[in-house]
Amino acid sequence: MFNKLTFWKKRAISSSLQERINVLKQQSIPEHIAIIMDGNGRWAKKRNLPRIAGHHEGMKCVKRITKMADELGIKVLTLYAFSTENWKRPKKEVEYIMSLPEQFLSTFLPELIEKNVKVTSIGYTEQLPAHTLKALENAKEKTKDNTGLILNFALNYGSRSEILYAVKNLVNDCKNNDIDAHDITDELFSSYLMTEGMADPDLLIRTSGELRISNFMLWQLAYTELWFTEVFWPDFSEEHLVEAIEVFQNRQRRFGGV
Ligand code: FPP
Repeated sequence: MFNKLTFWKKRAISSSLQERINVLKQQSIPEHIAIIMDGNGRWAKKRNLPRIAGHHEGMKCVKRITKMADELGIKVLTLYAFSTENWKRPKKEVEYIMSLPEQFLSTFLPELIEKNVKVTSIGYTEQLPAHTLKALENAKEKTKDNTGLILNFALNYGSRSEILYAVKNLVNDCKNNDIDAHDITDELFSSYLMTEGMADPDLLIRTSGELRISNFMLWQLAYTELWFTEVFWPDFSEEHLVEAIEVFQNRQRRFGGV
């Protein structure tokens, strides 16, 4: 049979990294990792390249981190690919970023299918250009029954807007007597968010040295461990992901307790 795993096979893991991974696997691996993939523009600038070259390299990085997340047994990988505020960027740059899901999926979808990865999204995806939405919907459809890693793209996503939308729907359901206001709990509210049914992230990674959350999963990050690195997203490697999880495993999560 023709082997679809071209990229998966090409990206071999060094024996020293494999050793670190084996150690990691003896403790609990974060179930849900969310990443703010930042620094594509600066990565390109440093090399006198146009910003879009940084985004292209960033897309390649998404491939290797997806593969590594799968190998580590992570259940959900949420990637902040485009915020509701990113439309303010120059038109050409926005157009290029909007071509990335297609570029990524046209080469990588067969491997994702083969590796049992399920593609999902959060964000106002109906406002994406038709070609972007088509590629995304096709990937979601083709992987909907997969039971492995959930590769969740945040596209045209903004957390405050997500929360407001949830509040409005909840108020409507209360008005219609579908819900009694006294019954509103954390869990119920979470079910009105775009991440409905998904566990909150255990670990948030932000690359490029910025120490902000930038309107990303504000409700869902309440008890998430945060890890920041100076590394620009296109340079983020399998080793960096392993390092982030090593740090995570050495943290004590108390969820407000002692
Ligand atoms: C932020 O870096 C990055 C983005 C807004 C785009 C992120 C997109 C990708 C990494 C590729 C996504 C791939 C798929 C498959 C959807 P920046 O441009 O703000 O960098 P800067 O702060 O250095 O200018």
